[in-house]
Amino acid sequence: MIDSLPKAELHLHIEGTLEPELMFSLAERNAISLPYQSVEEVRAAYQFSSLQSFLDIYYAGAKVLQTEQDFYDLTWAYLERCQKDNVVHTEIFFDPQTHTDRGISFGTVFEGIDAALQDGKKQLGISSHIIMCFLRHLSAEDAMNTFAMSKPWHHRMIGVGLDSSEQGNPPRKFTEVFEKARQAGLKAVAHAGEEGPAEYIWEALKELKVLRVDHGVRCLDDDRLVQYLVENRIPLTVCPLSNVKLCVFDSLSDHNLKQMLDRGLCVTVNSDDPSYFGGYINDNFRATQTALGLDNQAVYQLLRNSFNASFLEHSERARHLARLDTLYQELSDD
Ligand code: HPA
Ligand code: ZN
Repeated sequence: MIDSLPKAELHLHIEGTLEPELMFSLAERNAISLPYQSVEEVRAAYQFSSLQSFLDIYYAGAKVLQTEQDFYDLTWAYLERCQKDNVVHTEIFFDPQTHTDRGISFGTVFEGIDAALQDGKKQLGISSHIIMCFLRHLSAEDAMNTFAMSKPWHHRMIGVGLDSSEQGNPPRKFTEVFEKARQAGLKAVAHAGEEGPAEYIWEALKELKVLRVDHGVRCLDDDRLVQYLVENRIPLTVCPLSNVKLCVFDSLSDHNLKQMLDRGLCVTVNSDDPSYFGGYINDNFRATQTALGLDNQAVYQLLRNSFNASFLEHSERARHLARLDTLYQELSDD
């Protein structure tokens, strides 16, 4: 069922779609040496014990991305996967500091990604938005400098986000830059409650004024928070395979996604960093459905949530929901 129904993806780091094969071909194109001998060796290195153990490898892998064409090729490969998985709208994150800190210009990164997204719209009919994330392990001042540097591109982004090492880097560290971003008309989202406590989700809501929480799986530790998220219809972009790979849950059958749905939270399913975590969005749906015994109605609810939680304009959202409803009805009648 999941293959044939349209969906939106709302939690996807474009740097996390770098497949080992592309990593090798970009390394060759740019004459960069990799600490791996083969694609198999790269895949074998993807065993993580925590968020940090993943981030170390992830930032190292991103070094092969040098030119606008590299960012285009990376993004285009992801869009081809979107087409296969029936993703009709995607809101992607990128981390400018991962690239500007090694001398790649902001424009090189942004223009390469955006050119592919424009072609994705024209050639594949996939709509998209770009969200610029600040790396929370770096300073607030660094984030502010990145925000200033990105000004010429603000009108081409939908919002700002916050990612990287959560523990010890609370949302309140970035209150000021998020305030500036909102003043510039950008929407706010943030990773919170992945490894960090429920308190960080409160901070993301109250200090950063986020409209959506990325991960947020720790919210079930706090009943008042769950009530707040439900009453205010704040969506959570959950990434099940990522959570298991990074040891947030011991196994997929221990994941709390079904409990979150049952509590009335607006939960969505997403792939986060699919090349590193063993699967794209439909792999996440399939594995989660099996592990948690989700029925078709629950999957349908998750798909509806993906459009409702998106930053699509009202008419576009309505159009996607109507098409989803029709297709789901047809499948249910068969
Ligand atoms: N959490 C925090 N930072 C990240 C992630 C994540 O899951 N993926 C890429 N950067
Ligand atoms: Zn993420």
